[in-house]
Amino acid sequence: MVNWTEMDQQVKAWIMEAGAFIRESFQHSLSIQTKSNPNDLVTNIDEETERFFISNIRKTYPSHFILGEEGQGDELSSLDGIVWIIDPIDGTMNFIHQQRHFAISIGIYEDGVGRLGYIYDVTHDELYYAKRGSGAFMNDVQLPALSEVTLEKSLIAVNATWLVKNAYFDEKRLVSLATTVRGVRSYGSAALELAYVASGRLDSYLTMRLSPWDFAAGKILVEEVGGNVTALSGKELDMMKTTSVFAGAPGLHKRILTDFLLEK
Ligand code: IPD
Ligand code: CA
Ligand code: CA
Repeated sequence: MVNWTEMDQQVKAWIMEAGAFIRESFQHSLSIQTKSNPNDLVTNIDEETERFFISNIRKTYPSHFILGEEGQGDELSSLDGIVWIIDPIDGTMNFIHQQRHFAISIGIYEDGVGRLGYIYDVTHDELYYAKRGSGAFMNDVQLPALSEVTLEKSLIAVNATWLVKNAYFDEKRLVSLATTVRGVRSYGSAALELAYVASGRLDSYLTMRLSPWDFAAGKILVEEVGGNVTALSGKELDMMKTTSVFAGAPGLHKRILTDFLLEK
């Protein structure tokens, strides 16, 4: 039997320790490498932070599985059992260039169901977290259920590069959406953008291609406050693959989907 409350306390303690380590790294020069392309970056701090979580999880919860962005976890083909989905630094480019707008993201799933979700804005010391069925919080303040918002008064986030050209979608529809809503933002950290949807700082977030570690925690948070998280097609997210992601407040999610995203 899993003691989720005890695990919640443990994860928070590890996140605080990792956050202090990352803040401390601001004083030192980073070792930066590229991955799939020249703008896909990883630093020694991403790798050390992932290693920190994985060695603690292996010692404390040896029967659990781990999916980690930097590849130090397990090779998994399903979410059977208890699976920790970890992005040690989401928004690495921001971490390197700005020392802000990046987050630690951890989602814990049991047989594919999201149980615990954490997104820690390291620079601002803001921990967004949710325990399925018990509510979502920012630090110790409970986040209210999301209320309905009209399209014209909504503030949304879109990955800016996709507005210009993308291989997946007719960008004209996104441009039409962007010119109908009140405003559009782009922060460069999917995890934070999802945390902002959960906390009402944004009303929706749309992006074309994320990996499970980018959205695992955010999905739990947004759903816990009554929001919707799907692919841009409106279908359920595939947790084992790269996928588009579309999160939104109740009502707004449906309106954007039917008016802008689905083929007419
Ligand atoms: C990236 C960020 C970014 C998103 C990219 C991700 P990383 O994560 O979430 O907002 O647009 O697709 O890869 O590489 O900084 O962990
Ligand atoms: Ca990421
Ligand atoms: Ca990352």
